Amino acid sequence: MIRTLLIFGTRPEAIKLAPLSYELRADGRFEPRVCVTAQHRQLLDQVLNIFGITPDYDLELMRPDQSLYDITAEGLRRLEPVLRREAPDLVIVQGDATSAFVGALAAFYQQIPLAHVEAGLRTGNLWRPYPEEANRILTDHLARWCFAPTEHARQNLLREGIPDERIWVSGNTAIDALRWALSHQEEPESRSRQENRPERRLILVTGHRRESFGPELEQICLALRDLSRRNPSLEIVYPLHPNPNVRRPVHRLLGGLERVRLIEPLDYLAFVRLMSAAELILTDSGGIQEEAPFLGVPVLVLRRETERVEALTAGAARLVGTEREQIVRQTELLLNDPQLYRRMAEAPSPYGDGQASRRIARALASTL
Ligand code: UD1
Ligand code: UDP
Repeated sequence: MIRTLLIFGTRPEAIKLAPLSYELRADGRFEPRVCVTAQHRQLLDQVLNIFGITPDYDLELMRPDQSLYDITAEGLRRLEPVLRREAPDLVIVQGDATSAFVGALAAFYQQIPLAHVEAGLRTGNLWRPYPEEANRILTDHLARWCFAPTEHARQNLLREGIPDERIWVSGNTAIDALRWALSHQEEPESRSRQENRPERRLILVTGHRRESFGPELEQICLALRDLSRRNPSLEIVYPLHPNPNVRRPVHRLLGGLERVRLIEPLDYLAFVRLMSAAELILTDSGGIQEEAPFLGVPVLVLRRETERVEALTAGAARLVGTEREQIVRQTELLLNDPQLYRRMAEAPSPYGDGQASRRIARALASTL
C-alpha cells in the first residue's frame, strides 16, 4: 500500500482534493490520510461536511486577520511532528494557497516525495496574484510529480526547466468536483436562465484577492453600485468571504442597497446551484474561472492578470480589470449584446472532462 498524506487548508484546496481523496481510497493501492492545516476554519469545514471527509490531523491554524508569517511559520512548525509520525511515501498538495506551499516545504525538509495538483499556472507577475504566484512556482520546483491541468500549464513548467518526465497533463480536479456537485443537487437548476425569469437578471459576484485590498476593491464595489443604480432589472448577489479586509469595505460601500444582496459564504452545493442560475459572474476567484465555463455562464474577471488564460482563449471569460468605469462598461456591453453573450456562454470548457483524479491516481501508482 502506498501511504499517502494529503495536506490542505483552504476552501478551494478542499474542493479540488476531495475527488482525489475519493479516488485514492477507491483505487485500492493507496492508503490515503488527510491533514488539514485549517488555514480556513468555517469555509473548510463547510467543504469537509459536504464531501464527508474526516481529517486524520487538524492543525487548527486559523486566526482572525492572520498574516502570511502566521500561516507559514506556524504551519511549518505544526507539520513537522505529523510528517515524522506518518512517514508517508508521498505528500499531495494542491494549488497555490500558503497551506500548499507550507505542505510542500515541510515534505521537502523530510525528503518525502511531493505531488503538486494544479501545477504550472502562471501570470508571469510575481506580485499578482500575491502571494499565490510565488507559492505555486516554489511548490512546482519542489515537486516530484507536477499535475498540470492543461497543455498550456505544462508548457509553463517546461519553460522553467522542469523536466518533462515530472509533468503529467491531467485536467483540473475542479471539474471532477463540479460534476460530483451537479450529480448531488437536490433540485437541478434550470439551464434556461433568461427564459425562466426574464424580469430578474442575476449577477453573482465574489472577490477576495489580497492584491486588490484597498483602492481596487473599493473600485469594484463602486462599479457594482453604479451597475445596480443604472440597471433596475439586475439583482446582484455577493457571498462575502469572511476575511475582514473584504467585509469592511464591501459593507461600507454596498450595505443597504436595494438590489445588492450581501450574503454569507454558501456551501459548495448551494454555490454551484447559484452559479448555474446566474446570468453572469463577476469574480477574482481562481476556481470560479474554471467552473463557470463548464456551466456555460460567462465570467468577467475582476483582475489585471489571470493565470487561467485558457478560459480567455476559449472565449468563456474576459479580463476586465479592477477599474470602476471599465467594469461597468464591459458588464453592460455583455448584458446588452445577446450575440456576444451567446458566444461566451457557448464557448468550450477548457479545464478537463472530470477524470483528472483518476489520471493522477494512475500516474502516481505507475511511477511508485
Ligand atoms: C486564502 C489563500 C488564497 C485563496 C483563498 C481562497 C493564502 C495566502 N491565501 O486567502 O490563495 O485564493 O484562501 O478563499 O493562502 N477567515 C475566516 N474564516 C474562514 C476563512 C477565513 O474567518 O473560514 C478570515 C480570518 O480572519 C482569516 C482571514 O479570513 O485570518 C484570511 O484568511 P487567509 O486564509 O489568510 O486568506 P484568504 O484571503 O482566505
Ligand atoms: N465557493 C463556494 N461558496 C462560496 C464561494 C465559492 O463553495 O460562497 C467555491 C467555488 O465554487 C470554488 C471555490 O469555492 O470551487 C473557490 O474558492 P475561492 O474563490 O475562495 O478561492 P480561489 O479559487 O480564488 O483560490
